Amino acid sequence: MLYKSLQSVTGTILVADDQAANRELLEELLTTQGFKVITVSDGADVIQELIRTQVDLVLMDVMMPRLTGFQACEKIKNNPDTYLIPVILITALSDRQDRIEGIKMGADDFLSRPVDRTELLARVRSLLRLKQRTDELERAESVLFTLARSIEGKDPYTHGHCERLAEYSARLGEQLGLLEDEITALRRAGIVHDVGKIAVPDAILLKPGRLTPDEWTIIREHSVVGERICAPLKSFRFVLPIIRHHHEKLDGSGYPEGRRRDEIPVQSRMMTIADIYDALTAGDRPYKKGIAKEEALDILDQERQAGHLDEALLDVFVEAKIYEQALAPAVSPSATDRRRPMR
Ligand SMILES: [Fe+2]
Repeated sequence: MLYKSLQSVTGTILVADDQAANRELLEELLTTQGFKVITVSDGADVIQELIRTQVDLVLMDVMMPRLTGFQACEKIKNNPDTYLIPVILITALSDRQDRIEGIKMGADDFLSRPVDRTELLARVRSLLRLKQRTDELERAESVLFTLARSIEGKDPYTHGHCERLAEYSARLGEQLGLLEDEITALRRAGIVHDVGKIAVPDAILLKPGRLTPDEWTIIREHSVVGERICAPLKSFRFVLPIIRHHHEKLDGSGYPEGRRRDEIPVQSRMMTIADIYDALTAGDRPYKKGIAKEEALDILDQERQAGHLDEALLDVFVEAKIYEQALAPAVSPSATDRRRPMR
């Protein structure tokens, strides 16, 4: 712990104030503490600077020309590329209303004028420490996503499948009024659902012919292996059950646990529908064209009648035309087709 407390926190801080004297004061204080400082004089320049530079924290005055601190803060927090950057607003000592407004705009912390040096440094270090942890988490997530995409990339006919699956599932979740966290989990699960295939030898994964029963046993382990791979990431706790159960079927004939109906997480039931639809429609293969959506919907209906799919969820998928809203069209590569759908 001693080592941790002595570790220095570093980072790039964007200081915004329309008063040159205030900017210079903050710049001097922060640079002498080892931080890299960039200064700008209004809220619009803050937004421009964030496009150009990797910034770890924004420290800005509230009253500024062009964009105020509140307006700039709102823009930062509404942009998926910048919303994780901590923002400290500098307000008048007694202005309670300013702080309430700042909280509404998503500000992470406040400082009162005149700025107390010790308080400023404590708040800056605390938020930068938090930012470092968020960055580490983001790096871990992006490693997982890269791994999942590299497995998808082994099969040229599945190009874009993970992204489309994430999009179909998330839109189905939105249509059903799921909470934001649940929709985020669906998106993540869409990308990483088959990451467990890393443990399946290529000779089986890409085998052109029929699989033996032993080979099927190995394939079927991928949902449990995928869950295990993602388990160390705390931010993936809602994603794990979706991955584990994405091959369950309503009548209990799926895997890994043979769960039935409501025993299967609803997000897994949603993803299964999207997974089958995309496997059927995506990409032409040398001896099998990606089939038209009407035929794919017929097959989904047959799956429903066979007792495999959730009737109500499939109704929403069809009636809200979720299937028409995907992105990333599949490519039609010229290599030999090796993929079996609905594995
Ligand atoms: Fe799978």
